[in-house]
Parts: sequence; C-alpha cells; structure tokens
Amino acid sequence: MPHRPEVEAFFDEATYTISYVTWDPATGAAAVIDSVLDFDVAAGRTATAAADAMIAFVTAKGLSCEWVLETHVHADHLSAAPYVQEKLGGKLGIGANITVVQDTFGKIFNAGSEFERDGSQFDRLFEDGDEFAVGSLPVAVLHTPGHTPACMTYVIGDAAFIGDTLFMPDYGTARADFPGGSARQLYRSIQKVLALPETTRLFLCHDYKAPGRDHYAWETTVAEERARNVHVRDGVSEDEFVAMREARDRTLSMPRLIVPSIQVNMRAGKMPEPEDNGTVYLKMPIDRL
Ligand SMILES: [Fe+2]
Repeated sequence: MPHRPEVEAFFDEATYTISYVTWDPATGAAAVIDSVLDFDVAAGRTATAAADAMIAFVTAKGLSCEWVLETHVHADHLSAAPYVQEKLGGKLGIGANITVVQDTFGKIFNAGSEFERDGSQFDRLFEDGDEFAVGSLPVAVLHTPGHTPACMTYVIGDAAFIGDTLFMPDYGTARADFPGGSARQLYRSIQKVLALPETTRLFLCHDYKAPGRDHYAWETTVAEERARNVHVRDGVSEDEFVAMREARDRTLSMPRLIVPSIQVNMRAGKMPEPEDNGTVYLKMPIDRL
C-alpha cells in the first residue's frame, strides 16, 4: 500500500510516554519521534536504556535515521534527541514556536544570555503547513497548539503522530494549563486532527490506562476518536470542552519531572553548560510553577 509507513512503538512506563520509530518500507528511511532519556530525579542521574532500545531497533532493521522529531517541549520526560542523533544521525526538528517556549521558560529559569531563544539548537523549525519527507513518504506538518505553544502533529501517509492533543478515546485529551497553554486553542487544534481522513491511524504520546482498562494503549483512529472520545467526541462544543478542560486542569498536580524536563528540553535535550567544577546543575524555581 503506498504512503503507509511502518510504525514501531516504545512505551516508557516510568513516564507513560510512547516514543516511535516510523519508516518508509520502500527506502528504509526512518524518523525517531519523542525519544526518552531515563532520569532518576532523586539521584540526578541520567541513563539511556529507553533510547538504546530504539537505537538497537533502527540498527537491527538496517534503517537510516533521517529525522529526530519532537512533537513538543515535553514537561514529563527528558528528550534523548541529542543522544539519538549522535548514534543514528538525522536532523532534529520541532515546531517554530519553540521560540515562544524558550522565551517563557528562559525567563522562569533565569537562563541568562548564553541561552539562545531563537530555536537555533534545532536543525529545522516547522511551521503549520510545512512539508518534508521520510524517504519517499511525504510528511505534512500541522501546528496543533494548546497543550503547549509549539505542539506539532506530523502526518505521514495514513499515520499521524499527534503528540499531546488527543489521548485514547476512553481517556480524553491532554492538559492545557502549562505556561503558554490554552484549552480553547487545544480544542481548535484537535478539530484539525479530527478533520483528517477517518481511517487515519493516530499515534499518541502518552497513555495512563483509563477507568475499566487495565492495559496501556496508544493507537486509535480519527473515526474512533470522533465517535467515542470522552472529552471531544462529535457534538461537544468548544465552550463545553473549555469548561471541562479548565475545571479538570485545576485538579491536576504538576508532572513529577517538569522542572528538569523543561530546562533540558528547551535546550533541544542538551544539558546546561557545566559549572567550573565540571558538574552540570539544574535549577528549581521556587513558587513559580
Ligand atoms: Fe506533553
């Protein structure tokens, strides 16, 4: 079937994140999407088991990594993008509004003038409507903000990597209360995703199980979401969604790894420069988040 990429999912149970390798069966060209760097926050220690599993898969299949993509600046896990890029190659891409995220969090973390806020840590900044290719497969890029200002959806043939917009139909949608988030924007972005063909395979960035479901799941379709999504199935109005989303967000605590994740991910997954003793430090802003 033309324009049908292969997809392999990698679930990280420590952060409930799903990373993907997707590839063009005709050429073996691949993209690695939303990779995870293991992080033991109590010890401040990183590890690469999750990323190594993806790298081993790409290597074993003989794929060539053309792109290392982020759907957004994640707040719940550290990105392994620089490590994946070092091991596999490929260009690192994210949404152009990364600059907004860098500005917001550069201020919150008082990152200083050495922290560039122009997205220059990435190889490619995508705008809404941009197109690129993974091998012979065209990729269409949709700007789908709301969870964060820089959220992008990558549509590759009949597969869409939708980041944190929709979750599984029985779980609902992503939160929209981080700095720069907007429930109203999220609703409008979700409508863009739901306007894709009904058979489009949707690949989610997170799953937390759901009431009555005891296994993790991360793949659904536009038709299933439109029929059954508990937050935004067909017939739910923008105002109804915004009221529900904002009320629910007020009950949520911050993700366990938000403080380290944002500081690293706003730098494209790179750590801040080491201090003069050679050690890298992350900051903890008090009473800001
Ligand atoms: Fe997220």
